[in-house]
Amino acid sequence: MKMRVMEQYGEKLRQVIIIMSWVVISTVVTCSVTEARNCSFPYPAIFNFGDSNSDTGGLSAAFGQAPPPNGITFFHTPAGRYSDGRLVIDFIAQNLGLPYLSAYLDSVGSNFSNGANFATAGSTIRPQNTTKSQSGYSPISLDVQLIQYSDFKTRSILIRKKGDMLKTLLPKEEYFSKALYTFDIGQNDLTAGYKLNMTTEQVKAYIPDVLGQFSNVIRSVYKEGARSFWIHNTGPLGCLPYMLDRYPMNAAQIDKFGCATPFNEVAQYFNHKLKEIVVQLRKELSEATIVYVDVYTVKYTLISQAQKHGFENGVIACCGHGGKYNFNNTERCGATKIVNGEKIVIANSCKDPSVRIIWDGIHYTEAANKWIFQQIVNGHFSDPSISLKMDCHDHESIHQY
Ligand SMILES: *[C@@H]1O[C@H](CO)[C@@H](O)[C@H](O)[C@H]1NC(C)=O
Ligand SMILES: *[C@@H]1O[C@H](CO)[C@@H](O)[C@H](O)[C@H]1NC(C)=O
Ligand SMILES: *[C@@H]1O[C@H](CO)[C@@H](O)[C@H](O)[C@H]1NC(C)=O
Ligand SMILES: *[C@@H]1O[C@H](CO)[C@@H](O)[C@H](O)[C@H]1NC(C)=O
Ligand SMILES: *[C@@H]1O[C@H](CO)[C@@H](O)[C@H](O)[C@H]1NC(C)=O
Repeated sequence: MKMRVMEQYGEKLRQVIIIMSWVVISTVVTCSVTEARNCSFPYPAIFNFGDSNSDTGGLSAAFGQAPPPNGITFFHTPAGRYSDGRLVIDFIAQNLGLPYLSAYLDSVGSNFSNGANFATAGSTIRPQNTTKSQSGYSPISLDVQLIQYSDFKTRSILIRKKGDMLKTLLPKEEYFSKALYTFDIGQNDLTAGYKLNMTTEQVKAYIPDVLGQFSNVIRSVYKEGARSFWIHNTGPLGCLPYMLDRYPMNAAQIDKFGCATPFNEVAQYFNHKLKEIVVQLRKELSEATIVYVDVYTVKYTLISQAQKHGFENGVIACCGHGGKYNFNNTERCGATKIVNGEKIVIANSCKDPSVRIIWDGIHYTEAANKWIFQQIVNGHFSDPSISLKMDCHDHESIHQY
């Protein structure tokens, strides 16, 4: 009797051991596959700063939702983005295996455990001296975004320490130093001068001041513990209908792709100076990896070789209402009119945004954003030339660039 019990017990034990070793072996196999295909040190979070090029809901939370047909292609409803779908920052998040970023200002349905987005449409680097209703620029300039980030960090750490239920919505403390910090801002600092009737020379003259303020923000974020930076330069402003419509140029100033050369030159001048600032910051912030991404070249290449890349001709807005560029500043994308007591959208989407580059005269379509992302993800337009997942590499050796 005793013997039988022992035998049964032994059999059970044998089964348990077999199962356990199978679990151990398969775990080891799974781990090594994961290591081979994924980064050993993936970013646990993204903190983004910028303007409408990367706003995922900030301005909408503060000043009202971006109207339909924004969001029509991917979210099938307005989603705080000025596009028919996803932005470059959305593709970046997706590529890093992270959820789309919640806007810091968005108090409804947000989850910040993998980062936060401080960008708002219409943001400038320098604080503006006008209200949004006067000039159209967001009051959430980069200095304000920095304050919000700093406060977000302090309070996230506090709340997680208290350990209440809110902690599942906030990043872990170590994420702040391990995160990727992305920046896409400057375009509106350039247009702000033109809106004040400044000449191109006058706009160029204040660019060093703008970039001085930009580098102070990078220094502050570094002081807070950030180490991995991914900085987009500014796009070809002169190819956007809102500039072409507002400041008509003579024929000699329009290039063969329909873009206004003076505005593109200003953007390139800004980028040249931005690159100098980045070189300076690398020397100063010795523990940082700062990647400068030439988004200008990618966007201009897309516009100038539209058909080669499966798009229709460059600079006409998909969503708008009339005018040479299908852009009318008083009736922008989503503008409505009351007809027989019924509200109808008069500035609507074109038939097929997937073959168009420019969405609403200011921003790019999801299809264009996806194409742009695909060009920059592998580092082909970056200095130093490293991929988005730069932490797949040994962080120490990246510093040597
Ligand atoms: C790589 O990481 C992503 C995102 O975390 C995950 O979905 C995927 O399963 C991982 N791949 C492997 C092979 O584990
Ligand atoms: C706003 O005003 C201050 C004080 O006059 C000035 O220093 C600053 O350059 C102005 N900002 C802009 C964006 O013009
Ligand atoms: C927030 O997202 C994280 C990561 O995806 C998840 O673990 C957590 O449960 C989410 N929190 C809530 C309240 O949904
Ligand atoms: C700029 O010039 C336009 C046209 O001359 C004028 O209507 C506008 O008031 C000027 N704006 C400023 C800020 O001076
Ligand atoms: C833009 O819209 C306004 C308001 O409807 C209209 O008066 C104006 O003629 C339009 N401009 C063009 C170029 O169509």
